[in-house]
Amino acid sequence: MCDGVPLAAIATAVGTPVYVYSAALLRDRYRAFDEAFGGYPHALHYALKANSTLAIARLLRDLGSAVDANSVWEIEVARRAGFEPRQIVFTGVGKSPAELECAVALGVKAINVESAGELARLEALAAKLARTVRFAIRINPDIDAKSHPHISTGLRINKFGVPLDEARALLRTAAARQRLSLVALHVHVGSQITSLDPLRRAASLAADVSADLLRQGFQLEYVDLGGGLGVSYDGGAAPSIAEYVGALVEEIRRTSLPIVLEPGRSIAAPAGVLLARVIDVKPRDASSDFAIIDAGMTELLRPALYNAYHAIEPISTPGASPTEPASAPPDREPLRRAGTDATRLYEVVGPVCESSDVVGRDRTLPVLSPDDVVAIRDAGAYGSAMASNYNRRPLPAEVLVDGGEWRVIRRRQTIDDQLALET
Ligand SMILES: Cc1ncc(COP(=O)(O)O)c(C=O)c1O
Repeated sequence: MCDGVPLAAIATAVGTPVYVYSAALLRDRYRAFDEAFGGYPHALHYALKANSTLAIARLLRDLGSAVDANSVWEIEVARRAGFEPRQIVFTGVGKSPAELECAVALGVKAINVESAGELARLEALAAKLARTVRFAIRINPDIDAKSHPHISTGLRINKFGVPLDEARALLRTAAARQRLSLVALHVHVGSQITSLDPLRRAASLAADVSADLLRQGFQLEYVDLGGGLGVSYDGGAAPSIAEYVGALVEEIRRTSLPIVLEPGRSIAAPAGVLLARVIDVKPRDASSDFAIIDAGMTELLRPALYNAYHAIEPISTPGASPTEPASAPPDREPLRRAGTDATRLYEVVGPVCESSDVVGRDRTLPVLSPDDVVAIRDAGAYGSAMASNYNRRPLPAEVLVDGGEWRVIRRRQTIDDQLALET
């Protein structure tokens, strides 16, 4: 069930693969961030890269969120979702001249600058357009976030941000720059971080450098601490939103600066599942079978890209009651089909022509048959946003459940949609 709506009914009505999101959980996660600040001044800039489906962006806007955009196209989605330019921070390691020009012309809240070259280009652009540009410097604090190497961004060897010594030198030139206004420091050390330590250290460093800048007379408006809070995909420990925000406030309070946060995964991941149908089951070895489902790396890239874990559960068929209540804590025990305890070891794989197209390795699940539907959990972030057309597979449909009702918020792509771009 998703908030009282049977997932099986959605799978039947819309077909599979389909993403299903809980509006209630999206709201709960956003509010948990907002409330965790207590009275401390802050702004939440939801990271659109995690999931920028228009209805989800709008839902978060209605709660008072602002956004972090990583490309001019995410800026455009933000605009169409109703965000004002001053609610947008623009980050990205390779912003093209056209993207920068668009952000400057629009007058976004800040452009988070990632290199000396980019700052020079921005200065030239500001002069050309006769605009004053608000910017932040993204510092690379050389902190090991101990996340997956593909999503660690805060080490000096990572491509992101400006190393601290270089940033200090660059900041010394900031006051003399024509038409550039330094409004903040920015730091983001990676994603899916499940220990507070690196996040706290990055915040502490940002506080130190910000305090220096304030002493030098820079009129900083806030400090931007990025995103990065991990979620528990496998039942392992992850800090709560309250613990995370509490730790950041503790580090920043001495500067008295408001905090900007850019959470993506920690808001959207738990609020979405990907439903897929079993296409085939065939023997793998003496002790396991392959369960081939109709979603794979084209719909959910994370397992193939990062060896990421997502819990997989068969969903009960309408009328059958699972042995666990629908509200059971997400302890990752698969639901059992009513009336049977039989389980089997499966390699759950997608239909894509790549051996890396494995959605779940070595999963003990209730015995599966073709046409069964499985839910791949915690897929609300970096799921549909990373989907592709490889093998000419269509982008999946997406559904939002809100107040006991559900609606399609993105229809399934058709082959005509794909070919419309081609001559
Ligand atoms: C600059 C920046 N801000 C925010 C985020 C969102 O991070 P997360 O989804 O881990 O909260 C990312 C993603 O890596 C990012 O690169």
